[in-house]
Amino acid sequence: MRKIFVAGNWKMNKTVQEVKQFFSEIKKSIVDKNLSENLKIFIAPAFPFIALAKEMTENTPIIIGAQNVSEYERGAFTGEVSAEMLKSLNLEYCIVGHSERRKYFGDVAQNIPIKLKLLKSKNIKPIFCVGESLEEREDKMTNKVIVKQLQEGLSDYPLDSADDLVIAYEPVWAIGTGKTATPQQAQEIHKLIRNWLENHYSKNISQHISLLYGGSVKPKNIDELLNQPDIDGGLIGGASMDVKMFTNLIESGLKKV
Ligand code: PGA
Repeated sequence: MRKIFVAGNWKMNKTVQEVKQFFSEIKKSIVDKNLSENLKIFIAPAFPFIALAKEMTENTPIIIGAQNVSEYERGAFTGEVSAEMLKSLNLEYCIVGHSERRKYFGDVAQNIPIKLKLLKSKNIKPIFCVGESLEEREDKMTNKVIVKQLQEGLSDYPLDSADDLVIAYEPVWAIGTGKTATPQQAQEIHKLIRNWLENHYSKNISQHISLLYGGSVKPKNIDELLNQPDIDGGLIGGASMDVKMFTNLIESGLKKV
């Protein structure tokens, strides 16, 4: 079966004190849960707190990852964080191509594949994000845009195992807006992505790769999203920052594994 992800993306939120508080509370709230190896509980804090978060979640099932990586290997690139640095923290996953990075920070067709390959060279698994804007959806361009983004990112990206890559479908109009894609809208695009993966890689890869939905996932809507055959978890912003909500999301994930 495919791995189910309850993945939190904290974006530019939380101070050191808030990070400490979250992890001490979440550890208590999941300790008595019957967790499964098939459920991946992931959080990407801001860069300054990754080491602290790793330390605080040692010997727990919580996986800590990064929100972004530099397209450069090392050197005079003020403010950047390299794949090598992430590797030195033993990170297993890094988000790439999030729509906020595409919109505000220059993630484009040219540098996204470079980032993906740098991560690959360090054995860090990307959580690669794709998604259409509201305008593109209204213009009935959604499928075209998603396929284009998959091609731009993955056309030269070798993949031996479905475990080495996660894809998140995040319609831009649903992120942080409280508007969720309907489960049917999300399922339709997840199916499109899975078909693309079958053509580009293989049936085996496409059947085993985890595809996440992101965009205003909350405890109240995650169950019906996870009930869709091709949705294997959520990439969650707002609701991942609250211990109670994140615990509820984990409980929903557990029902699917
Ligand atoms: P949201 O963010 O859950 O706050 O909509 C999702 C994301 O950007 O990954």
